[in-house]
Amino acid sequence: MGLSQQTIENVKSQIDILDVIGDFVSLKKVGQSYRALSPFTNERTPSFFVSPAKGIFKCFSTGKGGDAISFLMEHEGWSYPETIKYLANKYGIEIIEDEYTDEQILHQNERDSLYIAMNFAKEYYKHNLLHTDEGKNIGLSYFKERGFNDNTLDIFELGYSLDQWDHFLKYALEKGYQQDIIEKAGLVIKKEGSSQNGGRGIYDRFRGRAIFPIHNLSGKVIAFGARVLKNNSKQPKYINSPETDIYYKGKNLYGLYQAKQSVRQQDNVYLVEGYTDVMSLVQSGIHNVVASSGTSLSDDQIRLLRRFTQNVTVVFDGDQAGIKASLRGIDMILSGDLNVRTVLLPEGEDPDSYSKKLGPPAFQKYLEQEIQDFITFKTGLYAEEAAKDPLKKAEAIREVIESISRIPDPIKRTVYIKQCSDQLDIEESVLVAEQNKILLKRKAGKREYDVISDIIEEKEATRRSYKNWDEEEIVALQEKESIRLLLSYGYNEIEEKHHLYDYLLEELEEVEFSTPVYKEILALFKKELAQGRVIDAMYILQHGTENMKSEVIDFEANSERYLVSSNWQKQFNIYVPEEKEILKQVTFTNILRLKFRVIRKLIKQNLQDLKNAPLDEQQKFQKIHANLKKSEMEFAKLLGNVAV
Ligand code: CTP
Ligand code: MN
Repeated sequence: MGLSQQTIENVKSQIDILDVIGDFVSLKKVGQSYRALSPFTNERTPSFFVSPAKGIFKCFSTGKGGDAISFLMEHEGWSYPETIKYLANKYGIEIIEDEYTDEQILHQNERDSLYIAMNFAKEYYKHNLLHTDEGKNIGLSYFKERGFNDNTLDIFELGYSLDQWDHFLKYALEKGYQQDIIEKAGLVIKKEGSSQNGGRGIYDRFRGRAIFPIHNLSGKVIAFGARVLKNNSKQPKYINSPETDIYYKGKNLYGLYQAKQSVRQQDNVYLVEGYTDVMSLVQSGIHNVVASSGTSLSDDQIRLLRRFTQNVTVVFDGDQAGIKASLRGIDMILSGDLNVRTVLLPEGEDPDSYSKKLGPPAFQKYLEQEIQDFITFKTGLYAEEAAKDPLKKAEAIREVIESISRIPDPIKRTVYIKQCSDQLDIEESVLVAEQNKILLKRKAGKREYDVISDIIEEKEATRRSYKNWDEEEIVALQEKESIRLLLSYGYNEIEEKHHLYDYLLEELEEVEFSTPVYKEILALFKKELAQGRVIDAMYILQHGTENMKSEVIDFEANSERYLVSSNWQKQFNIYVPEEKEILKQVTFTNILRLKFRVIRKLIKQNLQDLKNAPLDEQQKFQKIHANLKKSEMEFAKLLGNVAV
């Protein structure tokens, strides 16, 4: 049986690509299309676009593109029929099945067969654990000894594999499962000419072990981890399913299926190392927990987490040697634009042991009290060492700055640098210089991929977010924009024989910058111009102060967004003007906005003065107020329908 053509047609006619993709990605409207951070990479600059009019998506950093159905197949790893069924479900469309040809059944059902075989195996292992003597004596008693209760065993669907060569294989064949599916599911091991299992060459992969099923996001079992139970066994402690058509190691996180709802609710996820750590936390009432399975997170896993929360709390075992080794892995999480915090457990404890030692309420309290920002934690660790051994100071700086420089948000980076300067007792400028070195090196090594952006929309988005900003910050932003234009396009002629800098400097005569670094850059520009030199961003990078360099690096990195993809234009007939073409308009608008904002700031200050003024002086401030209001109106009019 397969899906009827009618069902497929019905589903296709209902698809709204924004609605479908919007379930997985948070889309932002930009002109005619929608934009987001690509769900296929850990990027900082959005390169993922959806065009609702054309019903297509395009990810410029990976090159993936297509319609809503191919998005789901790509993103969720579903087959075509799985995707149609999902959509039918979503839109409440009745599923009518047709006969399939034999060949179709073979192809389309193989993955389904793997899921079914894994589910069968899971039920079998569960049954062994709870209802066989061997399972109860060896498996269940082990879990009980470690303090796991029935509810926890149930939540994680734990099981036990009998200590025999092929008990599972025989049972599965008896129940009508095909041997090649059992093999493809990784449940047995086949070795031609092997002497094991009486020379039959095929035997169960998991024997005499506690079984931890690994679920995908929809709760289907896709793999198993299996822990040895015999003492002094020469076998490895854990063995795991191999990768199969339904299981890719780096794309899953143990416990996420059970945790996802709580992760969303708490807007935080605890990251621990092992299966038993996850179970112990859950038993302590902490449900938002997943395991990395002892390795550092892959890009895919970080992306997976980001679908549920921006906040990760890493729980470190209290083993001093282990901590430093795991710090590097955390930088990956920072790059993924997640906020990372840490909890350090006491010496010799892991989450499993310590939660049991304290009991649920005290353990929860411990986690809440000991939670610490990751950068603060790491800096503290190195600061302690550097205090003992001054030679370690350089290493401390490098290590800490390496992490900070991974954070995509420049504002966050600035805050951390300030804080670390205190913690390490090192001048801020030294730290900024170190950071700039790292950032520039990384930028040089980076492939400049095509990123489309509609500048005007981009800026509108920024303006929309002004609502929560105070007047000072907005002024600073407009000042920054003036400096960016000056350094990036200063020498461009916007009218015949009229360079952008002539125009900008003249207009800026009336305005006094309030942000020191922009003031300095402007002064430097004027000073060099007086000598006949027009300086640019490159000049600042070579000769500027560290603070100036930081600013330039920041808008240089941003300017990658302004690159226009010719592909995108060709494909969707969208015309995006390049910034240079509309330079005059951009500059003009910038000046108007800057002045407008300065006036608003003055109005606010004046009102304050008015409030504090003695009665006989109030009239003076009222007059100023009226004049300022008049100018404000004029500028608003000039800015016209450009939203301010
Ligand atoms: N692991 C693995 N293979 C190993 C050892 C570890 O896959 N040979 C993975 C498992 O996912 C394990 C995690 O790394 O859960 C952490 O290892 P460990 O702390 O040794 O395991 P625990 O789950 O804590 O198991 P236990 O408490 O029973 O020792
Ligand atoms: Mn453990």
